[in-house]
Amino acid sequence: MIPLIDSFEAYQNAYQRSIDTPEEFWDDVANTFTWKQKWDQTLNWNFTEPKIEWFVGGKLNITENCLDRHLANRGNQTAIIWEPNNPLDAVRKLTYAELHEQVCKFSNVLLSLNVNKGDRVCIYMPMVPEAAVAMLACARVGAIHSVVFAGFSSSSLSDRINDASCKLLITADGMTRGEKKIDLKQIADEAMALSPTISNCIVYNHKSFPIAMQADRDHDWMSLMDKASVQNEAIEMESEDPLFVLYTSGSTGKPKGIMHTTAGYMVYTAYTFKNVFQYKDQDIFCCTADIGWVTGHSYIVYGPLLNGATTLMFEGIPSWPDAGRFWSLIDKHHVNIFYTAPTAIRSLEVFGLEPFVGKDLSSLKVLGSVGEPINEEAWHWYHKNVGKGNCPIVDTWWQTETGGILISPLANITPLKPAFATLPLPGVQLVIVDEKGEELHGNNVAGNLCIKFPWPGLARSIYGDHERFKTTYFSTYENKYFTGDGCKRDEDGYIRITGRVDDVINVSGHRIGTGEVEDAMNEHGYIIESAVVGYPHDIKGQGIWAFVICDREHHSYEQLCNEAKAHVAKVIGPFARPDRIQVVAALPKTRSGKIMRRILRKIAEGDTSNLGDTSTLIDPAVVDKIKAGAELIR
Ligand code: WTA
Repeated sequence: MIPLIDSFEAYQNAYQRSIDTPEEFWDDVANTFTWKQKWDQTLNWNFTEPKIEWFVGGKLNITENCLDRHLANRGNQTAIIWEPNNPLDAVRKLTYAELHEQVCKFSNVLLSLNVNKGDRVCIYMPMVPEAAVAMLACARVGAIHSVVFAGFSSSSLSDRINDASCKLLITADGMTRGEKKIDLKQIADEAMALSPTISNCIVYNHKSFPIAMQADRDHDWMSLMDKASVQNEAIEMESEDPLFVLYTSGSTGKPKGIMHTTAGYMVYTAYTFKNVFQYKDQDIFCCTADIGWVTGHSYIVYGPLLNGATTLMFEGIPSWPDAGRFWSLIDKHHVNIFYTAPTAIRSLEVFGLEPFVGKDLSSLKVLGSVGEPINEEAWHWYHKNVGKGNCPIVDTWWQTETGGILISPLANITPLKPAFATLPLPGVQLVIVDEKGEELHGNNVAGNLCIKFPWPGLARSIYGDHERFKTTYFSTYENKYFTGDGCKRDEDGYIRITGRVDDVINVSGHRIGTGEVEDAMNEHGYIIESAVVGYPHDIKGQGIWAFVICDREHHSYEQLCNEAKAHVAKVIGPFARPDRIQVVAALPKTRSGKIMRRILRKIAEGDTSNLGDTSTLIDPAVVDKIKAGAELIR
């Protein structure tokens, strides 16, 4: 059994021990798993190359730990509950024995298509149990899965397939979210036309949408499964063999494939799941994220299954058929632990209390928040109306790169403070640094958040570009992992995350690089140049504000907005559509040609009282014009 912290004093002791003797601390956690061969070195690291290796020499398969080892005691326990988009459609439940069988069969399907250890497989799926089956089967045969969120466009999908040279794509005919239909296979076909490395495509028939199947490439999921044997032995993986790649946005350039490896990720997600949420046997755990993001990987699939938990997968959206959908879901499935994003809470807050009428939420014990800073108002609303004042909220701070939660209260253990992620978990040696990289000791400080010692869940590289991994995360501050987030430590030593300090924006919990949106905008025929920044948005957390220079003669403002927004949706995905487009005659540039985004950010935020030094601009007068223009569209 994974060690469970059961009091604040025990947390403090565990934390101290994890700092004093990290290797012994993590050995104890790792020893609770099933290994084909134990490791001979717990940790081998430096942050200069960087090189991060945990449980070196160990051999294991993560799916034996998610599935096989639970069969004896919980074969008949529900592993996955699936709640469909339409509440009138049938719920599905898979026991551990059934999930194991599906994963074994699908592993054999993968092997029959010549997918082997180290091969990359792209998964572009709706939120259905088969998505988890596909991920786990990849892990069972040693293939590296790359799940792409099913809201991405065909060109984003094909970029990701090509970056990792995936040989197989697993998708579905289509899906519905609320009333919106999405033709996944059609998007996949467009992507595959640009992705020559794909030799096979498996299509899960989810909605019986009409689709075209290409005879030599496309295979029906069910037909393959019907023929597959249920016998499959998990292959032996080294601790540091890659488990998955997951693309995420950064300040610059194309999205990067964050790479996680097997043992460290397993140990860390399992440990944090159990301790942060204080998961107890038989609890029903519901995380509303999508498996296309890291939260879905770590806390819908791996963390819960490693703990033998029951995990609920929800296909739909919070607002359909009405704004009471989450509350019906909690009532219907007697959810004990509910983990969602602040943007969802804020979007439901506006509907008031009516949607709660007739919904029994008394099963709830713990609430969680993830993905962006939660504002105090939303925190109180969540606590009072969802938790009825007696469920702790664990505000969990972490990132795709960190594999699992790093800063969070432990439910019912850590004293809470609204809008604070509170304290680091055991093993997490956080430091706050100023712009020069000087460590800020003590309380009442604010600066950039770094971590100075590895934890098992830390990403190991960027797929195919270790140099970029180094420059992005380990070069800003010597010997430290730089998170890209700013934070404050208050008088009690509690951490409050203040948001990104780089050019990444967080729109409804989706991480988007401003550069990606700019590239997409600039592709639009009439836009000559653009600069994109985030601005505070009541529901989404941040909205996207695009300043564009364009060839206006051809366009009305309205037409330009519609076309440019549609273009971004097509190139990246609908979630990256700009909220505001401001046409400008010129952008504020320095003599070296750099756009001063700091100024644009302030204008978009509506905080123009102090724009700082503008003397280095080629033409400081453009600032006043942009300021005036901003007021017209605010
Ligand atoms: C932000 C999501 C404040 C943060 C798990 C981080 C948060 C980025 C929180 C990572 C939180 C995530 N409070 N901010 N509780 N959780 N963030 O990679 O800016 O999609 O750097 O991982 O989300 O987003 P990602």
